[in-house]
Amino acid sequence: NEIYLDGLRGVVPGLPMTYRDLEPPAQAAMAPSVRSYVAGGAGDERTQRANVAAFEGWGLMPRMMVSPTERDLSVELFGLRLATPLFMAPVGVIGLCAPDGHGDLATARAAARTGVPMVASTLTVDPLEEVAAEFGGTPGFFQLYTPTDREVAESLVRRAEAAGFQGIVVTLDTWITGWRPRDLTTANFPQLRGHCLANYFSDPVFRSRLAKAPEDDPQAAVLHWALTFGNPLTWDDLSWLRSMTDLPLILKGICHPDDVRRARDGGVDGVYCSNHGGRQADGGLPALDALPGVVAAADGLPVLFDSGVRTGADVVKALALGATAVGVGRPYVYGAALGGADGIVHVLRSLLAEADLLMAVDGYPTPADLTPDALRRVR
Ligand code: FNR
Repeated sequence: NEIYLDGLRGVVPGLPMTYRDLEPPAQAAMAPSVRSYVAGGAGDERTQRANVAAFEGWGLMPRMMVSPTERDLSVELFGLRLATPLFMAPVGVIGLCAPDGHGDLATARAAARTGVPMVASTLTVDPLEEVAAEFGGTPGFFQLYTPTDREVAESLVRRAEAAGFQGIVVTLDTWITGWRPRDLTTANFPQLRGHCLANYFSDPVFRSRLAKAPEDDPQAAVLHWALTFGNPLTWDDLSWLRSMTDLPLILKGICHPDDVRRARDGGVDGVYCSNHGGRQADGGLPALDALPGVVAAADGLPVLFDSGVRTGADVVKALALGATAVGVGRPYVYGAALGGADGIVHVLRSLLAEADLLMAVDGYPTPADLTPDALRRVR
């Protein structure tokens, strides 16, 4: 309503209204190395494109005379009532995407202003405590890249708990970096990530592993981080992950129903269906196509979803296929690139307004009304 009423007063948003119009200027605003890191994916980027295209394979079936004038988009997740079903997926280097170089803080401020939670990456420009301090009343989640040094992992989780994060998202699909030709051509991603190590450099356990403090020998500190970055976890490690925290534990990167069952058996609180936006493996299934199988195997356990969400209609379709909450990735990154926190708020509000109006027009007043029956295959 606000957006339309502004229009009546002749006030038009200063930023593009659709992802299609947002992407080119946002990419142009970024430094070339950041641009290729954000825009690029694995291999020929077929999976990345297929993630987006998969949404076109479904259409919403309109229902008439069932819409109230006010809709309620809120959802329950891990005992929390979220204002909307959206969340911001973890994006390492978001810090470098905002014009002021503090995109993590911009994201946290956008979370405070919209009620859309941020999943804060392990890889940030500002330490997790400073990010969490900007959340306002909006819940936040901490995403863990599990280093080979278990005590560093445990220390990061303890800090996230102390800072007030409401859940730990362990990303499983990126213990090693996939084949990303764009990054290899610009040879930049180790340097980029090297600028996003505030959580490690401020960590007492990580610091205790170094001969010299990161301030005195940053190169050695970055090298130590790089050598201990990724732990190829196995299912035997799940009991350790579970034992690290009493907060809700969510495993990110799950697509196979059998993996959902193993995660359930290991006592997780939620699974996060994602293929990392096609950044890790090419030639794969679009994440949306994996979602129904994940939801069925989850058997009532909350399912978070991302990869390819570009419009409000995409959000609605993912909900209809059973996602409990839907993650936005690159769209909010581009919002940050064009306008920092304001840009992110603009992108989130546009997505939410589109989803809300679509649910109104098509007769699905709440996320609970969106079931697979709301969708039909589009030829
Ligand atoms: C990511 N993603 C990601 N995931 C994660 O668990 N930890 C991280 O640090 C990052 N970093 C990251 C950086 C950039 C630049 C991008 C674009 C993505 C993956 C992210 O959480 C999410 O899965 C994808 O962004 C979803 O795909 P789309 O919708 O962006 O295409």
